[in-house]
Amino acid sequence: MNIIELNNVTKTFGKVTALDNISLNVEKGKVYGFIGPNGAGKTTTIRIMLGILKPDKGEAKLLNKDTWIDAVDIHKHIAYVPGEVSLWPNLTGGEVVDFFSKLKGNSNKEKKEELYSKFDLDPSKKCRTYSKGNRQKVALVAALASDAEIYIFDEPTSGLDPLMEKVFQEYVYELKKQNKTIFLSSHILSEVEKLCDVISIIREGKIVETGSLNDFRHLTRSQITVETKDEIKDLHLQKGVYDIETVGLKTTFQLDSYKFGNIIKFISKYDITKLESAPPTLEDLFMRHYEK
Ligand SMILES: Nc1ncnc2c1ncn2[C@@H]1O[C@H](COP(=O)(O)OP(=O)(O)OP(=O)(O)O)[C@@H](O)[C@H]1O
Ligand SMILES: [Mg+2]
Repeated sequence: MNIIELNNVTKTFGKVTALDNISLNVEKGKVYGFIGPNGAGKTTTIRIMLGILKPDKGEAKLLNKDTWIDAVDIHKHIAYVPGEVSLWPNLTGGEVVDFFSKLKGNSNKEKKEELYSKFDLDPSKKCRTYSKGNRQKVALVAALASDAEIYIFDEPTSGLDPLMEKVFQEYVYELKKQNKTIFLSSHILSEVEKLCDVISIIREGKIVETGSLNDFRHLTRSQITVETKDEIKDLHLQKGVYDIETVGLKTTFQLDSYKFGNIIKFISKYDITKLESAPPTLEDLFMRHYEK
């Protein structure tokens, strides 16, 4: 069953076409990654899903209901974290979280305490004193403490340090185990690849690719730096290896993700002393996509 469904949605702002005929489906219990660079249309898509914006053309449905017509009803089943979190300056973080849980009609005190501690957030401070990252944590705690069907996160970890990003990922796993449906936008490929069952890439208002991470393997390359005891020979003859640079016993090159295993085996013969791999980037994926 599709929990989220957009069919041929177009949205323009004056002369800007923010979304150009996009369609997407998210099945129940799936984590859906929505990736694209700045201005691609991620937030606009989410605003349509939330019934904040009305599509010019096409239809958007959540839980099989029209997002514009049935917005109020749908909202009972959604938890949402916006990209830019603004809070009431004179309330404390804890008061904001409590307010949202009252709206949702469920107040799980223990869960909230656990979230404050895991996210290292002091809920007794006034919102006006919070940093960007802390404001984001307030919104995350409010969303994660609530019991919803659909969790929508718009670049949820952009203001968080890596440790907190990990905490967030653990909670997403937990939601997934409970068969919740999760929509996660980001402009960083490596951030969502660990979590998502399906990834869509949006660029200039169009979805250019959709698939599992495995489907993207043929489009991504990793940057490898390796140091060996013996000089590596004939690396350039191996398939899937590009842009080799050698300085002494240190070699860097680009490697097609699907050739990873083969090449690591090949290099092992030369006695690896150090190996670093930088994950494929979104920019890199776009380059491959347009070379195709
Ligand atoms: N309210 C608005 N009025 C006019 N133009 C808008 C409005 N909202 C979005 N746009 C334009 O629509 C396009 C898509 O914007 P959107 O905010 O959806 O991108 P995004 O993928 O969320 O980007 P970011 O990663 O920077 O958050 C951009 O060109 C943006 O300038
Ligand atoms: Mg955005």
